[in-house]
Formats: sequence, structure tokens, C-alpha cells
Amino acid sequence: MATTSTRRRFLQFVGVGTAGLAGCASFEFDDDETPRNDLSTLIATWRGRDPSDAVTLQWLEDADDHDGVSVELAAGDGSSADARSGVDPFGDSELLRHRAEITDLEPDTSYRIAVDGDETDLSVHTAPDEVDDSLSFAEGGDIGTDDVVPRLHEQAASRDPLFGLVGGDLAYADGYDVEKWVTFLEHWHEHMRSGDRLVPLVAAIGDHELRDREYYGTPEDAPYFYSLFDNVQEDRAYWALDIGDELSILLLDSNHTAEVAGTQTEWFERALAERSDREHLLAAYHVPAFPSAKDLDDEERGSIREHWVPLLEAYDVDVAFEHDDHTYKRTHRLLDGEPDEDGVLYLGDGAWGREAREPYTPAERPCLAVSESALHVIDVELSADGSRRFEAVGPDGEVVDRLEESGTGSQHRFGGEVALERSDVGLVPKTIR
Ligand SMILES: [Fe+2]
Repeated sequence: MATTSTRRRFLQFVGVGTAGLAGCASFEFDDDETPRNDLSTLIATWRGRDPSDAVTLQWLEDADDHDGVSVELAAGDGSSADARSGVDPFGDSELLRHRAEITDLEPDTSYRIAVDGDETDLSVHTAPDEVDDSLSFAEGGDIGTDDVVPRLHEQAASRDPLFGLVGGDLAYADGYDVEKWVTFLEHWHEHMRSGDRLVPLVAAIGDHELRDREYYGTPEDAPYFYSLFDNVQEDRAYWALDIGDELSILLLDSNHTAEVAGTQTEWFERALAERSDREHLLAAYHVPAFPSAKDLDDEERGSIREHWVPLLEAYDVDVAFEHDDHTYKRTHRLLDGEPDEDGVLYLGDGAWGREAREPYTPAERPCLAVSESALHVIDVELSADGSRRFEAVGPDGEVVDRLEESGTGSQHRFGGEVALERSDVGLVPKTIR
């Protein structure tokens, strides 16, 4: 029986919840207890296929042979689908990455997972092919491997999100620290779980995926990210997640391995134009156009405002999720840099585990409606009638901020009367800047 509850001997070597041990870049097992498959890093991911009929299961192994194993998904009605895992080096580490692409699934259906003939206690659930009521997902960025991360994951998972969207800076490994990736995957595997269901990870790229640079690199500069989160649509880290005809999220690469200007922006405009009828049209990328803690005027932030903000506004994008600053922020809806109810809402700013910074106040930076030094993950709920609810939640379940928007009553395509309800904030200690 393959189980994820067994903490294998290798955990002593990779230092779960710590920075890891220098020089121990691989799993190690006792000779007499080598398991067939260790699934403690197993995660479900969506990587650009239709999530209503496909899922990618991936995990890391320390083994010499590159033979794949069978992965079978079985639904309650007796139907099943399977695939053999492909095995490749995990970046340039000594670990191997198993990847099973399972397709031809039914929409909105739960499947139990078996690996190499052994049934696990885990399941996955496909996306609906039509959002006829409501849908929720968890959103945030800048996670890392600190001890607080499991608590934030558990807060997110307790709301039963269909998937988790991470807007860059996942393991905070800077393209080198494979132990951090192991810990990151173990945290997601163990704690981003709703009951026995693995919550699929949908990832955008951030600067801490790259080695020796933050910007203007190539996929080779982000070997671990691309080992797990390359997508089937483009050869760079931008692609479209479509759920039914109601929701699209365009994931973008903010100058890390694809330049904002040029090919990516041309793709972005085409992708927006093809999805102009969506009830909910969203974007997610790492570096904010309207940062809450860092400088407004550096080159990278300026390029987002120059190339993407005009498209977000022209195509009436409802929300742009931004990250990197390690705060909680909610802007006013902005049009041409000014508050306007028909404008774009920017939500972020990436503190799903990394120590929260002190943000500028709304008085200091008037594009901001709310800014807090607060670890959080955002529970996003979208409804078929166009209404939306965003609730930023801290590691102890405290509500950092809540925004509800109705689906009717405004010039804005989907917006409408904006009802703000804020809880008391107070939360985590304000720490570093
Ligand atoms: Fe970052």
C-alpha cells in the first residue's frame, strides 16, 4: 500500500521545515526499507490543458532507474483513466521527477488515486465544464518554507478551493536549493488538501525561481520551476487557464524568463480578445504594477504599467492578482491610475508565508484602498451571476480584509455596487521592510 503518511528516512536528510542541510541534495533510504514509491511530495497540477478533463500528478523520487510507474484514477461510477509517469531529472539535482499526465477524465468528478498498482488514500477532482453556480479558489504568492506555511495552507484548504493559484516565488529557492523544493512540495501535499483531495497547484513564475538573477533570464535559469510548471501552451511561463466559458485566468511572466514587452504582450492581447465574453476575466503575475511596499518607479514595475495595464483596462479585466511585495494590499478600482468604479482591481501583494513587510499607507500611496503588514491567503469566490467575494485570511483564520461585489447595477461589465466590509486587522507583528 503506497501511503503518504510514512515519513521516510530521507526527511532526516532534507530537513523539513528548515533550510536543509548543505550538501544533502537527495533523498536517501535504508537499503532494507527502500519503498516502491515515496509519495510525500506528490502534488496535482494544472499546466495548460483543459482542467475539466485532465490533471498532472507529479512527485520526486530518489532512485536510479528512470522507469515510470502506472498512475490510475478511478471514479465512483467505475470509470477510470490511467497514464504511465514520465521520469526526468528534477532540474539539475540528483532527484527524479515523476510526471503522469492523465487525460480523458469527466468534468466535476472525483477520482481516487492509485500508483504502481497501490491504492492511496488520496483523490483529485476535475474542474466543471460550466460554472452554473459558484466556484472558489485560493490565491496568493511568495510562500517559501517557513513554519507558518502549513497553517496558511490549512486555512486555504479549509475553504475547499477548487485549486490554488500561486503568483510566483513558490519555494523561494533561488534556482539552487533543492531541499526547499522538497519541503515546499511536502507542505503542499500534506496541507493543501481538502479532506483526501489534493488541491491542484496553478503556478506563475517569480524572481526567486531564478538563479543568479531575478529578471531577463531563460527557462534554464529556473530549472526547478520549469521541471514542474512548464505548460503545454507556450514555451515560456505564460498561459491561459479556462474553466468553462465563464472564467479565465491569464498567467503572465513579469520579466523573469519572458520579457513583458514584445511577444508576451502580443500573446496577452490576443488571449484577452479571445476571452472578452467571460463573466470573470482575471490576470495573475508576480511583479506589481501598483506595489504596496517597494518602489513604484523601477524598470520592471514600470514595464508592467506601460505594457499590461492598458490592456487590463481596455479588455475590462476584473481583477489582477499581484505579488512580490510581501504585504496585503487592495487598490481602488483604477483607470488611468485614478480611482474609477469601472477600473481594474489589483489584489495582492504576496505574503503566503514569507515574512510580511510594512506597506505604504493609502494616504502615502493613494492608489491603495487597503494595505496591511499581514501574512494571508485570499479566498476568491466567483458566481455565475457575476458577483465576487474576496476574503484575505491569516494563519489563525483571522480575516485581514473582505470585499464583496455584486454582479449588477453598474456601468462596469461585471462590477456593480462595491460593498466593503472590513474586519479588525491587527494580526501578525509588523516586522521587516
Ligand atoms: Fe518576488
